[in-house]
Amino acid sequence: MSDRNQSQESPEKKAAGIYAASLVQDGDRVGLGTGSTVAYTIRELGRRVREENLSIVGVVTSFQSEAIAIEAGVPLTTLAQTPRLTIAIDGADQFDQNLIAIKGGGAAHTREKIVSMSADRFVIVSDPKKRSDVLSVPVPVEVMPFGKELAVRQLKELGANPVLRAAAKKDGPVITDNGNFVLDCDFGSIPNPKELAAKISQIPGVVEHGIFMNADEVVIGKTDGSIEIL
Ligand code: 5RP
Repeated sequence: MSDRNQSQESPEKKAAGIYAASLVQDGDRVGLGTGSTVAYTIRELGRRVREENLSIVGVVTSFQSEAIAIEAGVPLTTLAQTPRLTIAIDGADQFDQNLIAIKGGGAAHTREKIVSMSADRFVIVSDPKKRSDVLSVPVPVEVMPFGKELAVRQLKELGANPVLRAAAKKDGPVITDNGNFVLDCDFGSIPNPKELAAKISQIPGVVEHGIFMNADEVVIGKTDGSIEIL
């Protein structure tokens, strides 16, 4: 994953992340998303494994989450060994009332989509600032390097201004865990995310976009430690 997601202490993210860990039950096969919010979930799951003998296996969505899970002591498996997950938990960059989310701030959205769609239940964890009546943050689009130019042209035709995501701490573009580029595509307000998602998916060379329509609930953490569930 890229280093766009800063891991600053956030009471809202912490409340959401830790609450989501309480949804996990003995025997669960858990999809572990990427980012600073779900990092709280992963660490809390590690604590429950150690202190409560919780028996779970996790499937990670990025090398970053893998490192956090290993450090926290969450036993890991792969989709090859465990193709059906009982629950997946992940962050988001923005979400609306219909539980449609834009993800990919950490450039991990392709694996996040595969993992979340492998799960019976998909829970998004977030702070309240990411709630929006209309989705409007740039949509990350993972694209094969070979297809970048065509993808840029066709994304422009769809109304975006695609920007190749740059690596924050070194020269050059972000390279995803899958060896691809990310184009951040500002479409302004997105009144019909489902239609846009279908159009982006048709562009050759596009591996995956960051519009997620498969969340079952969104857990929103508050500064006082309480949570709201959409
Ligand atoms: C990574 C993601 C993240 O879940 C999203 O960017 C939210 O991150 P954070 O919890 O750090 O705010 O989609 O690809």
